Amino acid sequence: MLSAKQTRESFKEFFASKQHQIVPSAPMVIKGDPTLMFTNAGMNQFKDIILGNVPIKYPRVADSQKCLRVSGKHNDLEEVGHDTYHHTMFEMLGNWSFGDYFKKEAIEWAWEYLVDVLKLNPERLYTTVFEGSEAEGLERDNEAAGYWEKFLPADHILNGNKKDNFWEMGDAGPCGPCSEIHIDLRSAEERATVDGATLINKDHPQVIEIWNLVFMQYNRKADGSLDPLPAKVIDTGMGFERLCMALQGKTSNYDTDVFQPIIQKIAELTGSRYGENVQKDIAMRVIADHIRTISFSITDGQLPSNAKAGYVIRRILRRAVRYGYTFLDRREAFMYKLLPALIETMGDAYPELIDQQVLIEKVIKEEEESFLRTLETGIRLLDKKMEEAKAAGQNNVRGVDACTR
Ligand code: SER
Repeated sequence: MLSAKQTRESFKEFFASKQHQIVPSAPMVIKGDPTLMFTNAGMNQFKDIILGNVPIKYPRVADSQKCLRVSGKHNDLEEVGHDTYHHTMFEMLGNWSFGDYFKKEAIEWAWEYLVDVLKLNPERLYTTVFEGSEAEGLERDNEAAGYWEKFLPADHILNGNKKDNFWEMGDAGPCGPCSEIHIDLRSAEERATVDGATLINKDHPQVIEIWNLVFMQYNRKADGSLDPLPAKVIDTGMGFERLCMALQGKTSNYDTDVFQPIIQKIAELTGSRYGENVQKDIAMRVIADHIRTISFSITDGQLPSNAKAGYVIRRILRRAVRYGYTFLDRREAFMYKLLPALIETMGDAYPELIDQQVLIEKVIKEEEESFLRTLETGIRLLDKKMEEAKAAGQNNVRGVDACTR
């Protein structure tokens, strides 16, 4: 079985063997792009190349990119922890072609990597193609469908609408039709009872998208119109944690070696066991997810603060503290003690975690302590208001009383 580390390496090796330049992940925190606070996709660092604003350095590139989807067009925050396959921060494995190869090779290599190299069962794979949009004046992506037909039977090639099969970076910017690859990880019995094709894009936790192949052809302008790009671009993104789940035979991203060392450490520090109580499990997943986001954000120079990107990070940290407080009975800072476990899982791919461990621990500890104080005070005040209301024979606390001392 491939470990997470081996999986990440195998992706890079495969695309290096197809003459791709392997580049480092860009920072997760973006400075200097007014349309975006955080990297939400692997293609962000190539936006100016895609738009033709800067010259192409390498026509073929691949990497593993740290992404964060907690604001703007791509925002998964509320699902995180409650389900088993969304994250705030995640790694996106991607390959790009800037004016070089296009749909045919992108599809053939995706298939070769998943089926020939990783040995995923092709019977469990489905793909979707853009069905077209009259409003945009765009036709069905018959070209992509034609390439998929070489590998998949017709009932595994499904049409998808603009929401799922026309990828856009934000309200403006590069975009184009896409083909998503989905995998059905359910048991053989379940697969025999319910056809996997009926569960694609239906939020089933074991029938999930793993890879998105975007065929970038347009730039969405601020007025909503589409301009052709100077050169056609391939932009693919594969969810690393989901791929690890599929390869490790698990049904939750959190059961893979990407998250288990962190979850086990949370269990140890809180005297709980993962897998015994639904609410505690959610809390442990929230904390395991959020500690990654907060730590990587700090290494990228974005500390929690009261404004903009810093405030998003502070809110994520506070979300984790709240779950720890409410469901794991944590009254003292403890998340900062998870750094060694995080380093164990990601330190060698991202050595900045090791270099900045002391700073990360210090910042998180201070934030935890300060928010725990605020939380205690707030809860005490609310309890007092509730008692006063009860003594006055009321069942409700007025909104205005909940907001004032
Ligand atoms: N940009 C696409 C995505 O984020 C593919 O990389 O899904």
